[in-house]
Amino acid sequence: MSSNHTLMGVTFIGCGAAAPETIVLNDELAQVVDTSDEWISSRTGIRQRHIGHDRESLAGLATQAAQQALEMAGVAAEDVDLIILATSSAEDLFGSACRIQAQLGATKAVAFDLTAACSGFVFGVVTAAQFLRSGVYRNVLVIGADLLSRWVDWQDRNTCVLFGDGAGAVLMQGTINPDRLLGFEISSDGSQNCCLNLSFKPELRELIPGVVLTQGKYQYITMNGKEVYRFAINRVPDAIDKVIHQAHLTSADIDWLILHQANQRIMDAVALRLQIPPEKVVSNVAKYGNTSAASIPIALTEAVRAGKIQTGDTIATSGFGAGLSWGAAIFKWGN
Ligand code: ACO
Repeated sequence: MSSNHTLMGVTFIGCGAAAPETIVLNDELAQVVDTSDEWISSRTGIRQRHIGHDRESLAGLATQAAQQALEMAGVAAEDVDLIILATSSAEDLFGSACRIQAQLGATKAVAFDLTAACSGFVFGVVTAAQFLRSGVYRNVLVIGADLLSRWVDWQDRNTCVLFGDGAGAVLMQGTINPDRLLGFEISSDGSQNCCLNLSFKPELRELIPGVVLTQGKYQYITMNGKEVYRFAINRVPDAIDKVIHQAHLTSADIDWLILHQANQRIMDAVALRLQIPPEKVVSNVAKYGNTSAASIPIALTEAVRAGKIQTGDTIATSGFGAGLSWGAAIFKWGN
């Protein structure tokens, strides 16, 4: 850990992504539940999703994504100070971040999980920025990773068609140069918590006479799709609008809009409200479905690798989902 407490700026200098090899097409899902490629693609834009098999692990995918981010940034694993793993599908309720720390060989890094569903990556970036701006840490890996295929009810066509598995990562570094994180806003509304859940169902057990405890299991994902849709198309444009103002910009200054890849219709509606043209909207929901905390860093990585996003480009991003929670940030890519 650095003992330099000079106020610093933040840069985003590396990214990476990984997804399981196995792909399930919409038509193949129609063999599992009563659905069709036409229904799924017209309502969501999704055409396929990657699904992890039994030998694939959340930590393994996250480590792959993180290694790519380190390589692009030219930062050695031993120089990472902090690893934040945004996930809602940790393989261990005590957290999976430390396993990634070990697999990376990031021996001096402190590592912890952050649970905020599909907002997790943006919440992670904002958390990382606090450590970097204060000068406490110099190199922070923010990873978004989820294997929601493990938590989806494959008999429930309302939800199982939506989700896919994957991991993405960014390396954020402290700098004495101007801060590349131009604005952020993170929010929660627990009054709508019941709209989207992966909840624990307690089963009563009498330990000794008069002492009843609860042991149980986590249930499959449940979702009120219409409410989540309404929430997203209202809250997300407002949040992005706020951060655009915070950054003293207008929506015309945004080079790329990278939203949480939940649904193409949500992305289109948000872009329309912000008057950001479709060619500036980064979308890969057709290929991956909704990968929860992983979706933004996967989309970012693909756009950077394709040469679309260039150093100095201004990116507006927003994650939203269970909690309900949402967050937006504006940052410039690269050094
Ligand atoms: N295939 C065929 N029919 C289906 C399917 C399916 N996969 N799923 C639902 N239907 C049926 C419904 O049963 C319903 O039939 P009915 O009218 O006979 O009852 C009909 O299609 C219409 O269903 P709606 O729910 O009205 O469909 P809607 O247009 O609202 O689209 C959707 C559903 C795509 C889920 C939409 O509500 C949505 O995108 N919501 C946002 C969801 C989201 O983004 N969630 C992730 C948040 S991120 C996170 O934190 C995990």
